[in-house]
Amino acid sequence: MAGWPAKWVCLVWACLVSVTRAFCPTVCNCDDTVPSARCVGVGINVVPILFNPGLRRLNLAHNIISSVAQALVFFDRLEELDLSHNVLTSLGVGNLEAQSQLQELRLAHNNLTHMKPGAFRGLASLTLLDLSHNGMPDLPAAVLADMPLLTVLLLAHNKLHSLTQNTFRGLRSLHVLDLCDNYFRHVPSAALESLQALKSLHLCRNRLTRLDVDTFNTESLTSLSLDTNNIDYIADTAFHRVQRLQKLNLSDNLLRNIPVTALASLAMLDSLILSKNNFTALAEGAFRSLGRLVTLEVSRCPRLAALHPAALDGCVSLQSLTVSHNPYIQHLPVRLLNALPRLHTLDLRANSLRSVSEASMPWGSLARLDLRDNPLVCNCSIRWLAALLRASNTSLAAPDLQCAAPEKLKGLYLSRYCSRPAGCAAGLALPSTVHPHRV
Ligand SMILES: *[C@@H]1O[C@H](CO)[C@@H](O)[C@H](O)[C@H]1NC(C)=O
Ligand SMILES: *[C@@H]1O[C@H](CO)[C@@H](O)[C@H](O)[C@H]1NC(C)=O
Ligand SMILES: *[C@@H]1O[C@H](CO)[C@@H](O)[C@H](O)[C@H]1NC(C)=O
Ligand SMILES: *[C@@H]1O[C@H](CO)[C@@H](O)[C@H](O)[C@H]1NC(C)=O
Ligand SMILES: *[C@@H]1O[C@H](CO)[C@@H](O)[C@H](O)[C@H]1NC(C)=O
Repeated sequence: MAGWPAKWVCLVWACLVSVTRAFCPTVCNCDDTVPSARCVGVGINVVPILFNPGLRRLNLAHNIISSVAQALVFFDRLEELDLSHNVLTSLGVGNLEAQSQLQELRLAHNNLTHMKPGAFRGLASLTLLDLSHNGMPDLPAAVLADMPLLTVLLLAHNKLHSLTQNTFRGLRSLHVLDLCDNYFRHVPSAALESLQALKSLHLCRNRLTRLDVDTFNTESLTSLSLDTNNIDYIADTAFHRVQRLQKLNLSDNLLRNIPVTALASLAMLDSLILSKNNFTALAEGAFRSLGRLVTLEVSRCPRLAALHPAALDGCVSLQSLTVSHNPYIQHLPVRLLNALPRLHTLDLRANSLRSVSEASMPWGSLARLDLRDNPLVCNCSIRWLAALLRASNTSLAAPDLQCAAPEKLKGLYLSRYCSRPAGCAAGLALPSTVHPHRV
């Protein structure tokens, strides 16, 4: 604008500023550099239309909007639209047709019970769709067909119990599908079959009872959560076609046995969570094919009592083992952990161990050891542990432990238990010189 009279420059500038202001309804905050607008929790019941037509991000969450109708037709540059926490009961058909640039659409916490085919027509760039918390009892097959680039689909907290075979047809890019907190009694295998790029499938908190033959048929799957269902049966070939699986969560189900054969398909598995099941034993070679397993958790199993000495054979990559809060585990076989050359973190908290032998620990690799809340008997057999907890030059991190018995030492911290070798040599179970106040 060099050479223009200063007066004109001012005039043009003032004009621009006022136009910009005119593009922002008073209840909203707008940023014209993006441009974006936020009208969150301000009690509006319609989509305001007085925005900059170049708007890229629009956040209308936490209002009382019940319909979008034609309101968005002028905003064809939108990339992100948040309408979550409103009272939408329908999107209508074709009302988002102008949004060919839209990448993220958030519709969680509305009342979208019945989606109509065509509701998402035109959303050719959409990558994320959040429809969670809507109370949908079903999802008509053609509803999702218009979004070829969809990568993340969130359907948690609805009332879905089945899906027809074509529900996901055309979702060639879908990586993440969240179906947790629905009413599924069976894995919707036929519908999932179309999702050939799927990596993460979440089916937690449903009503699944069985995993039948070839239940999962999306070969690209790497992460599967099945926690908090009622699964008591897993067919030997249930995981046969998902051999790239790395993370599996089966916590909080009704399994009575480790599904040894089914797990044997999963040679790439690195994290396995089996807590809160109805196991009574970890049998010999229970995880024998899981040579890449890094993390294993078997906690809070109310009936688990027996750990076979060879239960963890083959788990040569295991770094973190959590076997905690199992009230019937009274004995840790000496050989159990010796098969684990990489074990770094061992959590044995709150079992019913009365003693632990020094020879049972994988000393070569262990860096963290938690034995708290076990009813430990402080006698000469765990003097090694007392010495370990007392040592200041150790690289092992281990919280101090309290003795549960004998009566005289109850509540005493084990690190203060300083029995004399001579006492043990003499066969004394209880070092008579120990007093709680002595270090
Ligand atoms: C959701 O819609 C159903 C009918 O479709 C209605 O009965 C219910 O009251 C609505 N819930 C809310 C929170 O608006
Ligand atoms: C597995 O599922 C349980 C139960 O829902 C959950 O608490 C835990 O965080 C999950 N673990 C992983 C590693 O996802
Ligand atoms: C656990 O298994 C036992 C018998 O194997 C059965 O009686 C019990 O009902 C099961 N527990 C649950 C919660 O299903
Ligand atoms: C110490 O107590 C444990 C658990 O009761 C017992 O198995 C062990 O034999 C005892 N050791 C000694 C030296 O008395
Ligand atoms: C710690 O010191 C004790 C002797 O005080 C010694 O026997 C032991 O090897 C030391 N441990 C480490 C890890 O340096």
